Amino acid sequence: MPETVLNIAWLPGDGIGREVTGAALGVLNVVAEATGLDVQWHEHPVGGAGYDACGQPLPDSTLSACHAADAVLLGAVGGPAWDGVANEKRPEAGLLALRRALGAFANLRPVAVPAPLVEASPLRPERVAGTDLLIVRELTGGLYFGEPRLLAGTAPERVGRNTMVYSEREIARVAHVAFQWAEKRKGRVTSVDKANVLEVSRLWRAVVSEIHAAHYPHVALDHLYVDNAAMQLVLRPQAFDVVLTENLFGDILSDLAATLPGSLGVLPSASIGGAVGLFEPVHGSAPDLAGRDIANPTAAILSVALLLDHTGHAAEAEALRRGVDAAFAAGLRTRDLGGTAGTSAFADAVAERALDLIPAP
Ligand code: NAD
Ligand code: IPM
Ligand code: MN
Repeated sequence: MPETVLNIAWLPGDGIGREVTGAALGVLNVVAEATGLDVQWHEHPVGGAGYDACGQPLPDSTLSACHAADAVLLGAVGGPAWDGVANEKRPEAGLLALRRALGAFANLRPVAVPAPLVEASPLRPERVAGTDLLIVRELTGGLYFGEPRLLAGTAPERVGRNTMVYSEREIARVAHVAFQWAEKRKGRVTSVDKANVLEVSRLWRAVVSEIHAAHYPHVALDHLYVDNAAMQLVLRPQAFDVVLTENLFGDILSDLAATLPGSLGVLPSASIGGAVGLFEPVHGSAPDLAGRDIANPTAAILSVALLLDHTGHAAEAEALRRGVDAAFAAGLRTRDLGGTAGTSAFADAVAERALDLIPAP
């Protein structure tokens, strides 16, 4: 049987991005060798690293490499070193441009609380045990991209402006993604908006309801205002299945949801919609942890698992996920979860356990 090749564009970015995605690729390497999957990756600069190397947070060469790859694995971008850089050259602008260029309009952010992590949550165990939800965040529209945008004038007359705008088409395509995930999961979508105040949210709610009625009447749909949704996610996280929301609300709610398993360091994401998917931890570059081998690589490892799912390598994805579960079950924890394991030690432990779980050929 000919070997399958998987070509990954690796964009480590800034801060802990290199450590956590490097560790995750190490785990992938071990698993791929065992299953006969030929994985190849090439590194490209993005974010602050792109700015430093090429004067651009998304160098042209990086973008072409992403278009040519089977999938993109990104670490994180940003950090204090680039705080003074002009807005359009900031590391974050490079990430936004990449998402847009790849057509990655749907950002899938699964939030599960594995049994061994229940104790790491700041919430009472009976409140979080069994939590398993999926945030579907619209990723290429809303306030992040809306025009007009400006920061202008001189003190004391300065003005800042951003625009939250969604077309019906943008709402519909991400709604389809959310309903289709609900069909494969627990059959429930909660759409989150601010329709009591914002026109753009009223359109959001109307379009989501219409798509539901026309195509997915068998899926349960409810709507929450975003302020209430933030509270409900903490009060009764087990009640959620798929949470569908716009770009900024999804950004905020997903960091909030990271408190359920107890750390941002365990949440992966998949940014999909175009020909090539972008796989990125939910967390940022954590400058406070960078270069110390203490960051949690779980989010990066699970992002690689999503990458494998998306590129048709389900067995390898499952091995990674089960390796993570087994490492947690054995009591291994990085510092954010109250343990002492370093980034590379934790990843090695995951790789070792993943290997044990791969069936013999
Ligand atoms: P952050 O996500 O980097 O860190 C928030 C908190 O979570 C910090 O206390 C950090 O130590 C902790 N944390 C994050 N990842 C962790 C991990 N893997 N293991 C253990 N602890 C972890 O957010 P921030 O501090 O607000 O932002 C720092 C920089 O990262 C900024 O420049 C921001 O723009 C950028 N950022 C980038 C992305 C991305 O590239 N996708 C996401 C968020 C923030
Ligand atoms: C995320 C980040 C990014 C976002 C920033 C760095 C542009 O916070 O991926 O959650 O807001 O989308
Ligand atoms: Mn964020």
